[in-house]
Amino acid sequence: MYKVNDNYLKLPGSYLFSTIGKKVNAYAAAHPDSRIIRLGIGDVTQPLAPAIIKALHSAVDEMGDAATFRGYAPDLGYEFLRNAIADNDYKARGCEISADEIFISDGAKCDSGNIQEIFSLDNRIAVCDPVYPVYVDTNVMAGRTGVYDPQKEIWSNVIYMPCTQENDFVPCLPKETPDIIYLCFPNNPTGSAITKEQLQEWVDYANRVGAVIIYDAAYEAYISQEDIPHSIYECQGARTCAIELRSFSKNAGFTGVRLGFTVIPKELKAGDVSLHSLWARRHGTKYNGAPYIVQRAGEAVYSEEGKAQLREQVAYYMKNAAYIYQGLKDAGYTVSGGVNAPYIWLKAPRGMSSWEFFDYLLENANVVGTPGSGFGPSGETYFRLTAFGSYENTVEAVERIKAL
Ligand code: MLT
Repeated sequence: MYKVNDNYLKLPGSYLFSTIGKKVNAYAAAHPDSRIIRLGIGDVTQPLAPAIIKALHSAVDEMGDAATFRGYAPDLGYEFLRNAIADNDYKARGCEISADEIFISDGAKCDSGNIQEIFSLDNRIAVCDPVYPVYVDTNVMAGRTGVYDPQKEIWSNVIYMPCTQENDFVPCLPKETPDIIYLCFPNNPTGSAITKEQLQEWVDYANRVGAVIIYDAAYEAYISQEDIPHSIYECQGARTCAIELRSFSKNAGFTGVRLGFTVIPKELKAGDVSLHSLWARRHGTKYNGAPYIVQRAGEAVYSEEGKAQLREQVAYYMKNAAYIYQGLKDAGYTVSGGVNAPYIWLKAPRGMSSWEFFDYLLENANVVGTPGSGFGPSGETYFRLTAFGSYENTVEAVERIKAL
């Protein structure tokens, strides 16, 4: 008789955004006249920029002509895209990352879930609390997290690094020594940012204790302040301790197109084993590459036209972020984030729990957000709103919340 991977049975409940989706759909079915505004999942709403559409059309035409048709993409991605990334995201910022250290994929969610496969099950992970649930859940599926305590909502073999108002939502170095450290900045869900000096401390720490940092920089395009690093490779020594994950979802609106990449420097080694080689082996075995037309669309993100259009798109969402931030502050809420990230993190009012506030907002304002406790125990009593809605919906949602 076959057996299932019983690590899956340890997972409490369903994936956070699936749970929210089900709740909202049930509410909508019971209240068909309500006009629900969804500021829950960080999904973009603006159309793809014209430069990207143009690139997609032209790549589609190439695929319809025998002379320019392409089959399987190279395992690690097309050179044209990897070169554009290396030049624009790294060399232009003074980071020493070459095109052959970049692995193109169909998104940072998959990469952030899959990357743990190249590490031993004995490794101990450290995560921020609250945290993007994919990092923890995929380690649970692999069997690396120990036993779940439903009261405390924590796993016995995970090191939690609380990110609270006291530390400005930037974790302190952990007391216990981890092997794998997940960091995401600008942060999902709190919208906080880390300064270069603070990030340098993490890099120095990881090199000192022999840990690897998995650095999720999916939201770097939203950075507006000078001393905030866009990449961990802006820090000295990061090439020997850090993997970086990047996404096209938020900076270029590719949530429905799917494209991302992972950077693994050649110097990153466990003893004499190169993590770059392990990930290349995994990628080659389990993945056939992001579609050619999508990689051409990704290349257009780095064209002069594309860059200018995407700056405007990011500014559009950041105008929403500023509107939510100020509106809620004026209404007496405790708010943070929204300056270097498209997420606003607020404290639920009148001592409500995160889920109580979720229900309250859905029922009384028909506005959907994300309960902070869904991201970890330190998120309890907090709530996340995304700036990725349309401006009109954002304004209306804030007005409805203010009127409560
Ligand atoms: C979120 O809402 O946290 C993100 O959209 C999730 C994701 O990017 O996978």
